[in-house]
Amino acid sequence: MSASTELTKEALGAIAKAHSDSELETIALDYLGRKSGQVTRLLSGIGQLEPKKRAALGQAANEAKRTIEGALAARRAELEGARLADIAETEAIDITFPGAPLGRGHIHVLTQVQRQIETVLENLGYQVELGPEVETEWYNFEALNISAGHPARENWDSFYFTPELLLRAHTSPVQIRAMQRIKEPPIYIITPGRCYRRDAPEATRLPYFSQVEGLAVDRGLTVGDMKGTLLFMIQSLYGKERKVRVRPSYFPFTEPSFEFDVSCGICGGSGCKSCRHKGWLEVGGCGMVHPQVLRNGGIDPEHWNGYAWGFGIERMAMSKHNVDDIRLFYESDLRFLDQF
Ligand code: DAH
Repeated sequence: MSASTELTKEALGAIAKAHSDSELETIALDYLGRKSGQVTRLLSGIGQLEPKKRAALGQAANEAKRTIEGALAARRAELEGARLADIAETEAIDITFPGAPLGRGHIHVLTQVQRQIETVLENLGYQVELGPEVETEWYNFEALNISAGHPARENWDSFYFTPELLLRAHTSPVQIRAMQRIKEPPIYIITPGRCYRRDAPEATRLPYFSQVEGLAVDRGLTVGDMKGTLLFMIQSLYGKERKVRVRPSYFPFTEPSFEFDVSCGICGGSGCKSCRHKGWLEVGGCGMVHPQVLRNGGIDPEHWNGYAWGFGIERMAMSKHNVDDIRLFYESDLRFLDQF
């Protein structure tokens, strides 16, 4: 076997075994490198040979060079093809594959409680009535018998835009708006909505919160009707084991007026840490609508009377779900919210 045939064979063997471009590069240098490549060296010795042999060797060496170059190129292409095939296999995006599922949200616990209250009272014949959150001083105070300078105003420390315009401090102004709109009793409405007061946030109060007001205007309504309605509402929402009680209180827009309490869901009324050992949780106020308030709504108190209540929705959610800090409802912490 001639020297060039032997080199070619050797080179082709090495090329077949190479697995990377850099290995092929080394082989190319080794055989075809301009200075010390083995085939190159073969050609450089050609001058010393006798002319007859020169042509044959030159031809053979050039042949070897072409063959090796061809093999290098073919192997390079082969490796590149394998690399691309591998990428196609491992990095391909299959657009027919289903996407990653999106997390599903759910209704906020306060909205849930509000809707439950609405459903229970709608089933009793009450209608939902909404009013503006930016209220006039007349609807928020005057019409409810809380005239300027009345000491009870301190209970509703409010955010004012102008002396006549404020963020409503309770949902009671919607009582007046509802009487004015409906005009002819019987009136049975509830008015859920956001209220605002200048209170610093703490475990039991916030500067913004929600109330649900109820108003019934009809003939011959009694405190018993009111208490029965509220007992039904509470037990529908919380369960039959809950008890309610009313305590005498004072509101300028009701006479008589009461605080309304629900028995603690944790201790059942015997007293525990969560109800501060009272056995009861306050949810709001209620009472028989003051005749002057009926008059301010355009209703004749000689023919009609009414009862009303205003409960905090957060307080109701707290006593329903045994939550002891009102701020949790507004912190958007999913570890809390996902429990409901
Ligand atoms: N508006 C009162 C408040 O915000 C709550 C209230 C008490 C509403 C008695 C009523 C009621 O309708 O009769 O504190």
